[in-house]
Amino acid sequence: MNNHVPDLLSLSENEKEYWVHKILDVDLRIKTHYSELYRLARISQPGYCLEIGTDTGISACLMALASAQTHQPGVYSIDSDIGEGMIRYPHRKNQGGNRWHVLGTNILLCGLQEQIVLIVDDSLRAYRWFSVPIRLLLIDGNHDYQHASQDIANYGKWLVSGGYIVCHDYNEDGVARAVQEQIVPYYSDIIYHKDCHPSYIVARKP
Ligand SMILES: C[S@@+](CC[C@H](N)C(=O)[O-])C[C@H]1O[C@@H](n2cnc3c(N)ncnc32)[C@H](O)[C@@H]1O
Repeated sequence: MNNHVPDLLSLSENEKEYWVHKILDVDLRIKTHYSELYRLARISQPGYCLEIGTDTGISACLMALASAQTHQPGVYSIDSDIGEGMIRYPHRKNQGGNRWHVLGTNILLCGLQEQIVLIVDDSLRAYRWFSVPIRLLLIDGNHDYQHASQDIANYGKWLVSGGYIVCHDYNEDGVARAVQEQIVPYYSDIIYHKDCHPSYIVARKP
């Protein structure tokens, strides 16, 4: 553990932004999908956050940070391949390890180990035992139609009324079709963010 890393939860918004940038390599002013996630995790209804697709834990850490700051329940994050895959972002500072190493380092440096529960399983299997009220659901696992569609349906049913669903990579055909079928008819306040990377949508459960 790096002794120079402060307790993120005790920092002002400006200081926190600096440290989130330094640790997770995320600039919340530029990476708008991350700042939106962080904002939604702070304002949304009581309940947990759930992420499908943990990867190196950046979104999980941001949602967990928001949860801790607002004294709300923390984050469940599901990934089928946490240990094996090498990280695919050579431009990022914390390159060079496998995902498990980077993920663990991110969570520990942020001091969020008590706010995040990691579930290593395929999302299409894990939903069978999942029964937790969710206030913010991030769909960001396998982006093919079958997975996106079933992830939205299987986990969306645990969203509390007024809770938010976020789907990343809306510009991928499978995600776009899943959103049209599983979100547009059933959710309200749908906002499309198409011209950013990654593209994403946000919607609210009535
Ligand atoms: C785009 S990355 C997620 C990025 C992460 N949500 C973030 O914002 O930092 C997609 C992740 O989904 C995972 N994944 C792919 N298929 C999956 C499945 N069927 N079940 C669970 N996770 C899956 C991959 O292993 C990968 O880590």
